[in-house]
Amino acid sequence: MSIAPHGGELVDRLLTGAALEEAKTKAATLPKITVDTYAAFDIDCIAKGMFSPLTGFMNEADTRRVLDTMYLRDGLPWTIPILLAVSQEQGDALEIGSQVAIEDDEGDIVAILNLAEKFSMDHAEIAEKVYGTTDDAHPGVAYTTSLGPVFLSGDLDVLKAREIEFQDYNLPPKETRAAFEAKGWKRIVAFQTRNPVHRAHEYLQKSAMEICDGLLLHPLMGTTKQDDIPGNVRMECYTTILEHYYPDSHVMLSLMPVNMRYAGPKEAIMHAIIRKNYGCTHFIVGRDHAGVGKYYGTYDAHAIFENFQPGEMGITPLFFDHAFFCKACGNMASIKTCPHGNEEHVFLSGTKVREMLGKGEMPPAEFTRPEVAKVLIEWAQSEN
Ligand code: ADX
Repeated sequence: MSIAPHGGELVDRLLTGAALEEAKTKAATLPKITVDTYAAFDIDCIAKGMFSPLTGFMNEADTRRVLDTMYLRDGLPWTIPILLAVSQEQGDALEIGSQVAIEDDEGDIVAILNLAEKFSMDHAEIAEKVYGTTDDAHPGVAYTTSLGPVFLSGDLDVLKAREIEFQDYNLPPKETRAAFEAKGWKRIVAFQTRNPVHRAHEYLQKSAMEICDGLLLHPLMGTTKQDDIPGNVRMECYTTILEHYYPDSHVMLSLMPVNMRYAGPKEAIMHAIIRKNYGCTHFIVGRDHAGVGKYYGTYDAHAIFENFQPGEMGITPLFFDHAFFCKACGNMASIKTCPHGNEEHVFLSGTKVREMLGKGEMPPAEFTRPEVAKVLIEWAQSEN
């Protein structure tokens, strides 16, 4: 028996067959709003159950409850509101109780919103409560404050699943669950990442693999900030490292088309809930998970889990300290396992690594596998 989705049932808002045909005809007659890439990804997450138990965009009461208590009104843990914002003019033109066609960033009508509520809320308050800051230099804050003033809520009927690059790897929760079942995996650990897999990531993954049946390498492929490494480059890094250093029988690579919010601890909770919906039983949380800049403490994303009872989350977080290669130990370690001082530890900042890659220099093999470094050098040099 696989792990239950958040709320007990996997949400499926994708229409098929006659209902889909009917909805397409209907949508053509409805008032229409156009959403950005970010909202289009959120719609896809609602459609395929990544955001179970959500069946649509959040209303005011749930948004407030989530912001103030980290729970939905039905008592389930939830830390980041899922909102659909429009301009005042658009909001005013739409009637509560009516249906609205949603066109995505690619010009397709992807959903019908059953408009149940319109509301407004202070964007700065949302930002402060989700990101712990109102500093516009934070990408999540900048996005939140740029949103229109009217939030629309209501259930979605989705006409079209979103396709992304490497679509063959874009398995929805229903399919990852079926795949785990077929492999006979019962204890499945998910690894979230928006980066290439470096040695520290590999160490976390393999430590967890020792106590689980399989690893879901689950890179995030929704919107990310401009200076994050592009998805196609990361994909090449993932397939390369898997080919050289992982056993096929215990790893599955699949993509997660979810937006990166950079909300640190609050996002760590969402990342765990989403992986539970994908059918994973365990979730890796390392140092500064989903962090950006210096907004969060190194282990804030561990501490936040203490607010919830294990049964409430329904997925087991696996916490890891900052990992590094220790030259004296001759292996990867953390301060929990290594007695040596910093001078023995290989630490490289992201900036330093970028600089080396740009110059065509290989970062040390203790930091990045050479096969992965090669992919990154090619990309970095093509950027220069
Ligand atoms: S994240 O935004 O997706 O969290 P990243 O891809 O860098 O960023 O990290 C993926 C996971 O690995 C996260 O759980 C993060 O906490 C963890 N992690 C990254 N680097 C280290 C490290 N050196 N030591 C321990 N954990 C790490």
